[in-house]
Amino acid sequence: MSTERLKQERSVFIRTYGCQMNVYDSERMIGLLKPLGYDVAPTPDDADLVILNTCHIREKAAEKVYSDLGRLKRLKAAKQKTGGEMSIIVAGCVAQAEGAEITARAPQVDMVIGPQAYHRLPELLARAARERGDVLETDFAVEEKFDRLAARIVDGPSAFLTIQEGCDKFCTFCVVPYTRGPEVSRGVDAIVAEARSLTAQGVREITLLGQNVNAWRGASPAGEVGDIWGLGELCRHLALIDGIERIRFTTSHARDMDDGLIAALGEEEKLMPYLHLPVQAGSDKILKAMNRGHTVDHYRKLIARIRAARPDIAISGDFIVGFPSETSEDFEGTLALVEEIGYASAYSFKYSRRPGTPGAAMPKQVAEDEKEARLARLLVLLEGQRADFNRAMIGKIMPILLEKRGRHEGQLVGRTPYLQSVHVKAPESMLGLIASAHIEGVTPNALAGRLTTDGEAAA
Ligand code: 5AD
Ligand code: SF4
Repeated sequence: MSTERLKQERSVFIRTYGCQMNVYDSERMIGLLKPLGYDVAPTPDDADLVILNTCHIREKAAEKVYSDLGRLKRLKAAKQKTGGEMSIIVAGCVAQAEGAEITARAPQVDMVIGPQAYHRLPELLARAARERGDVLETDFAVEEKFDRLAARIVDGPSAFLTIQEGCDKFCTFCVVPYTRGPEVSRGVDAIVAEARSLTAQGVREITLLGQNVNAWRGASPAGEVGDIWGLGELCRHLALIDGIERIRFTTSHARDMDDGLIAALGEEEKLMPYLHLPVQAGSDKILKAMNRGHTVDHYRKLIARIRAARPDIAISGDFIVGFPSETSEDFEGTLALVEEIGYASAYSFKYSRRPGTPGAAMPKQVAEDEKEARLARLLVLLEGQRADFNRAMIGKIMPILLEKRGRHEGQLVGRTPYLQSVHVKAPESMLGLIASAHIEGVTPNALAGRLTTDGEAAA
């Protein structure tokens, strides 16, 4: 069946699990399906096509896919009874890691497609329609993927832009090197072209994405200074694009935080003073067992250098508690490091044993209730730091990017440079602008503010 014949009124529902890279990939998939006549359905109930864009990072996330597939099986059967149809696609990292198992465990699934094959969706949909059989597509061919993915339609002034994918670090707990493949950087020209297409749609803030975003490397465009650029040079270059007011990047690795990037953080005002720099644990023994490739002291000194370059920077992090062989003393090291660094926000997780990773086979696995107790203590500490950080904003005047309508009439929600949501009274005509807000209070998940009188003029 040709692509032309597939072009008819249909609807697609995409459920996205996990990280921002998946959010980005889902947007790109929608971008590919729209020209084929697919509209986005708000629920799976009436959709002709349901895509689960899955996450494999922890066991819980992966298991959620199978419970969703159970629900979809019933929905699909009910539809078929009344003469309707529903195709189910499993995409993302579970698809990559457990493709064969999915087709065996869930025969209701029509197609399994790994993250490197999304650009082939139209062709695969056509093939599936032709053969009415199962399609399994999990080969790596990342160079092609980005070039062949359609442009995205984005909604709102803030957007993600993937510049790097994959990971060569092989932390012993992590599935990413297996599900997303080796580190690959997109070229400068493709990134600039996508950034321009985003600004043409009204985007003012871009968040550069990569599993190891600061491992990004690229040949400089002709006529520019330097041969090979790192992320710092790329950010400075993107900052020159008209319309881009804010640049962020995530997730960084302490081993790839080079001088050029630190200097850019210090000098480029469009780079937001907020850095997600996970350390995972505060014990050298555990960092070594995790294969993080650096010590606690390296991280500590690195943060000091970054803070010296950009004193107003806020740090966020990821932590894992209960990695194999972690003693309560090791865990105390994590608490001490958190106390010392001070995090504006953080994600913390109980270690989840992932099949096929070296950590899963390590001796001295930590008991579940011990992990639970450690996580609870860490969360109290981190939550206290987050609350203190938010409270410290009261009385300040902050530039906020007005991103969306609030829940109440006449209210908009903006974001500070530190990614905090701020509720302000403002007309809808100000959506997409960066305005000055006086921060007056905090609620559990946001700040309350009032636009200053010159709010509209603020940059
Ligand atoms: N168990 C628990 N947390 C994990 N992460 C990655 N793999 C695991 C795992 N097996 C966490 C790390 C990483 C974040 C994205 O997820 O903290 O930085
Ligand atoms: Fe996973 Fe480590 Fe790579 Fe991050 S650096 S994606 S935690 S293997």
